Amino acid sequence: MSNIAFLLNGRRVTVSNFEPRLTLAEYLRSPAVGLMGTKPACNQGMCGACTVLLTSLKDGKAKYTPVNACRFPLVSCDGMAVQTIEAGNTKTSRQLNCIQEKFVKHNATQCGFCLPGFVMGVTALVKETQGHPTVDDIEEAMSGHLCRCTGYRTVTDALREFVTEASTREHALLGGATNSITYYKNLQGTSIATTAIPEFHGVAVTDAGMTLGAAVTVQELLEACRAYAKAHADQMSPAHALLEVLPRYRGKEARSVSTLAGELAIGTEVANYLTGLGATAAVERVTRGANGHPQVEVRAQVGLPQLVGLLQDRAAVTVITSVHLPFPAPRAAPEFYACYKLSRKVENMHHLLLAVFRVRLTPGADGLLVVDQCTLGFAKYVGWRSELIRDAALEATLVGRPWNDTTAREVAAGMPQRLQPLLAATPSTDMDMGWGMDTGWDTGLGWGCTHLHGWGMDTGWEDTAAHLDAYCATAGAGLFLRFYAAVARHMNKLSGPLADVRQPTRRSLMRDTQDWEHIPESDLTGTRHTNILMQSHATGFSRFTLDIELPANGLYGALVCSTHPHARLDGIDATEALKIEGVVAMVTARDIPGINKHTGIVMDTTVFADGEVECVGHPIALVMATSQPLAELAASKVVVHYTDLPAILSIDQAIAANSYLSGLESHKLVLGDVDATFAGRSDLVVTEGHFYTGGQEHWYLEGQNCLVVPRDEHYEVFSSTQNPSKVQTDVAGVLGIPRRRVTCTINHTGGGFGGKQDRPCILATAAAVGALKTGRPVRLALPRRLDFQMMGGRHPFRCDYKFGCTRDGKMVALKVRVVTDGGHCHDTTGPVLDKCVFQLPNAYTIPHIEIEGRGAKLNHPTNTAFRGFGAPQHCAMMEQIVEEMAGKLGMAPHQFRELNLNKPGDEILFRELNLNKPGDEILVGSYVSHGKGEAQLQAIWDQLMQTSEFPRRLAEVEAFNRQHQYVKRGISLIPLKNGVCFEEDFMNQGMALVHVLADGSVQVSHGGVEMGQGLNTKMAQIAAQTLGVPLDTVSVLPTCTDTCANTQPTAASSGTDLNGGAVREACAQIVRNLAPLRAEFPKATFAEICNKAYFGRVTLSAASHFKLPTLGWHWDTKTGFSAFYYDFGASVSEVEVDTLTGEFTILRSDLLEDAGRSLNPTLDLTQVEGGFMQGVGWLTMEEINWSLRSGAMLTVPFTYALPGLADTPLELHTALLKGHPCPENVAGSKSSGEAPVLLGTSVLMAIRHAIQSARADRGLKAQFTMDTPLTIEKIKLAIEGQAPSDLGDH
Ligand SMILES: Cc1cc2nc3c(=O)[nH]c(=O)nc-3n(C[C@H](O)[C@H](O)[C@H](O)COP(=O)(O)OP(=O)(O)OC[C@H]3O[C@@H](n4cnc5c(N)ncnc54)[C@H](O)[C@@H]3O)c2cc1C
Ligand code: FES
Ligand code: FES
Repeated sequence: MSNIAFLLNGRRVTVSNFEPRLTLAEYLRSPAVGLMGTKPACNQGMCGACTVLLTSLKDGKAKYTPVNACRFPLVSCDGMAVQTIEAGNTKTSRQLNCIQEKFVKHNATQCGFCLPGFVMGVTALVKETQGHPTVDDIEEAMSGHLCRCTGYRTVTDALREFVTEASTREHALLGGATNSITYYKNLQGTSIATTAIPEFHGVAVTDAGMTLGAAVTVQELLEACRAYAKAHADQMSPAHALLEVLPRYRGKEARSVSTLAGELAIGTEVANYLTGLGATAAVERVTRGANGHPQVEVRAQVGLPQLVGLLQDRAAVTVITSVHLPFPAPRAAPEFYACYKLSRKVENMHHLLLAVFRVRLTPGADGLLVVDQCTLGFAKYVGWRSELIRDAALEATLVGRPWNDTTAREVAAGMPQRLQPLLAATPSTDMDMGWGMDTGWDTGLGWGCTHLHGWGMDTGWEDTAAHLDAYCATAGAGLFLRFYAAVARHMNKLSGPLADVRQPTRRSLMRDTQDWEHIPESDLTGTRHTNILMQSHATGFSRFTLDIELPANGLYGALVCSTHPHARLDGIDATEALKIEGVVAMVTARDIPGINKHTGIVMDTTVFADGEVECVGHPIALVMATSQPLAELAASKVVVHYTDLPAILSIDQAIAANSYLSGLESHKLVLGDVDATFAGRSDLVVTEGHFYTGGQEHWYLEGQNCLVVPRDEHYEVFSSTQNPSKVQTDVAGVLGIPRRRVTCTINHTGGGFGGKQDRPCILATAAAVGALKTGRPVRLALPRRLDFQMMGGRHPFRCDYKFGCTRDGKMVALKVRVVTDGGHCHDTTGPVLDKCVFQLPNAYTIPHIEIEGRGAKLNHPTNTAFRGFGAPQHCAMMEQIVEEMAGKLGMAPHQFRELNLNKPGDEILFRELNLNKPGDEILVGSYVSHGKGEAQLQAIWDQLMQTSEFPRRLAEVEAFNRQHQYVKRGISLIPLKNGVCFEEDFMNQGMALVHVLADGSVQVSHGGVEMGQGLNTKMAQIAAQTLGVPLDTVSVLPTCTDTCANTQPTAASSGTDLNGGAVREACAQIVRNLAPLRAEFPKATFAEICNKAYFGRVTLSAASHFKLPTLGWHWDTKTGFSAFYYDFGASVSEVEVDTLTGEFTILRSDLLEDAGRSLNPTLDLTQVEGGFMQGVGWLTMEEINWSLRSGAMLTVPFTYALPGLADTPLELHTALLKGHPCPENVAGSKSSGEAPVLLGTSVLMAIRHAIQSARADRGLKAQFTMDTPLTIEKIKLAIEGQAPSDLGDH
């Protein structure tokens, strides 16, 4: 097809001669179209940020379909209407529509990168339901949308407003092309869009079953099942079975596009369900006739297992024309079907295990129903293509037996033993997806990563998934019991303990409350204000770095990265790459005129590897071309020669090899005498052991990207960074020029969370070298998978501990050694380690402490700053040690915690005898709240104890657990204490430049970066309040090194404190300048005063610099303070755990945080909720796996479980502490940025509580090792006593 025509935001457009695999998102964002509101966050159909609305005509009626534009071929838009977030607005005139208005009203998002997607998802739903969506509709519509910032509460509040309820192949067949759009990206040839064939769209439902055209989408199948189930409420038919699982399959946008034929051809999860349910496919076998025309050889109806062979047979092309799902014939023998899916998060996540069950029952002797036939099908995850296994011997254990509790229990009891070897033997078919494409086992590569060719095929899966078979075997038996219970309930024959077994239910939208201190509205620095950027986020006109237009003659870059963890570089051959038309140049270490060094506090790694690579993902070269696909293609053609060197690929390997990052040896703090205490106190109860906490991906929605524009002698860098001055410094260093010739600008980022503190320098320096060589602008944007592989994340830790307490529960001695995976270079590992070490005792008073931290040096990418910076780790580690001890003492954990909570007057600071100056005290604590913070902690504890009704609910949980075997509950109350500011004094400084214009309006520039936390809003509030002007007269300008220089990263929760202090002082200077005029003209408006000042030659501008008092922390002398103040808080969470499968639900969470006198409760509450969910994700689902063979990260975006809307608590109560201002800080406030991540620990401990009850029922020890993330597999294995190690003699 050479021409297509469609309506774009109401305007007819025709597009000709385009590349057939061009996606709709690429088209919309191309310079010619310039609709940047469609955000490419993952480019893989996973996050929903790129959602647009398609309208087509079906049977004379409008059909509304939300689609992921990043996976939707432009070609498929022919004849449709496409609506983007910008519809109805222009760059210069913008008005919110009623949907956008609701999101803005609720300040629904933070960084705003996800917002266009949410708005468009709702737009589609509102149209589809003619303005009457139900809660279920909304839940379903949002299943494919991710937000990393908010924790979804504010999004939910907005959503609630809408509820009105009550290959190398020559020819490619395209279905929805959600898959093909990626994998055939660079291939030439004809595409046949099956979606354009009307005959492929029919849906016919009869009593005998459903016949569905090959291009019927998964969502249409779901809707057909829904309609059937509604009309046949008394059945457990195949349609009912699919209703349980299809809504959890990917997001609605993806389901609305991917076709049944596509699913079957790939062998996806949906194909497995259909196979288990006995579906068949109508196929045509097509060959090329003598005249070259296609010729249909055979038409047939085949079983799905047979289809696999046909599709693989390349002698002819197999075209699926329709799918038939049979329903059981009405007969005396009742038949029941069910499908189940287990995955780490509720929606939009691949299965770990899926099961398809069927039984046909016939009357037997004694009137009992006996199993006549059955299907027990299971598929574990081995990639998208998974294979349903059925075992005749297993099914035979059921056939002929009465359908009752005894049979169910006996069959379930024998099932794991039978299943485990079968599952273990399941071939990893997906490792090569069999289309002649080197796509990589994980199927998440994306076109942007072809240059990582080589390691994509390293399965390494066996290294990390050994426990998966054990899990699937026992959880599979659990699912069978679930099926039995469902059938028995259906027949009204369920009683006894099995009545407990939970059936999956659709959740409703979260219920929530918020509480904060109400300050008179006249005080702009204490009242609620929505983020000043919300309107532009909601209309899609916010400009992130990724949205800046590439100047004419600009180039796109793609990195060539190491595929070896540690190797000597023997040569780089770009001959083939440079032959490709459109490829302009390649740069390597040899092209760097300055120093080949960057990142972190210690500059110890290279921009481009020089002689040696130290991790997979280590940049080696940058290829530049006239388009992104060309640059990627060229990068994949660069041949790199390596000689492997020994590599260290785990923390334990590093410890064994004594491989540590240099300079971090002295990170040890001592209080009292731990060894003497353990040796001399036989009265102590002692526990010891070790465990691990996992890493975490930042998953900022706007991926890492930059644009470097050379102008004469000057380099203008636009970077999605939290740290523009560092980008400026590193670019100048690499180019060997003074910093004055480089500027760095950032408008706002689509999330950062620490990942953009130092790491953006990698991109900016590489692109700058490219810009130098070519003299042309260079854009470098990382594909999401490469972002995962090379950018580093939260530091994982190993924790070894020994803990002693008196029998009555007083903490006495704690000895801990923590070792973190620092990766191959320092980056921020030193300060992350420090924070963990400083804070490890959390909020507890322990007289004897010895804590040592070491940074292990591995051949992994360096780990880096991540919200909390070592503090979430300290909290999770200490609270696990506390739980274990409470269990050993036989005390309720909350009582043990409260007994040892820091109290005013407690000796809580570290002291160590300074050997050089005997008698000197060595203190580690906070500058401000030393002495008074402890009282605050107790107030928080008492308040939350009361508002969460903890004692009553704990008693209820315990009563519940006594009565239930298959489902358990847990509840936990956790204190929070987290130090704020940088430990290096020089970093505790902020900058601001304020211009008041002669019309009285105000422009504020400051040194911080807006990342969604609302920093610009808070700066505007401070300026408005200090100047005495309305908030809407203040604009905050992009952060740029030429307005505020020598700035610090926006990190360590210090952005508001440092820059707010500077803004306030700059505004106060202007007020002082205007004071004489104000006195002379008391009735004049602010604008009039400013006008008079201008004509009177009074300056209306002021720059200010702000610094914190000297904290003076020194590791060498171990003196000084480690924090300016502490944030305090607490959280209570209650969970329910399905003991058959390990799945859990957060029933309720209560969060209380001290934000001082909050500057803006709207923003602070959202920060608390977003941080909390980030903590929950880190501790329970966001697992990262590394290959112990190739050194590559095995986890890819597709397999990474980022919490979604359906993973949030059913009930959430968030409050800010009242009546505790922090007068030492700006406007009495405290930061709310990082501390809330620690609050997620309450969910972890609540799960632990539930597991303990389940273990007790099984006669297992209460204590067990709890490595995090505590995924559903680990929960189930811990319940069954199959955790890696169950702890000692408890
Ligand atoms: C982000 C993301 C997440 C995913 N998550 C999951 C998951 O959790 N679980 C899972 O199992 N899968 C998952 N998938 C796989 C996904 O379901 C498939 O990409 C999709 O179902 C394919 O459907 P389609 O219509 O888009 O097929 P297309 O991409 O159009 O085609 C896929 C294959 O089917 C062939 N084909 C299409 N139509 C016909 C026909 N009529 N006859 C014969 N062959 C045909 C094509 O030639 C091609 O080989 C995911 C994919 C993405 C992108
Ligand atoms: S779904 Fe398209 S960018 Fe994420
Ligand atoms: S606001 Fe949703 S990802 Fe940032």
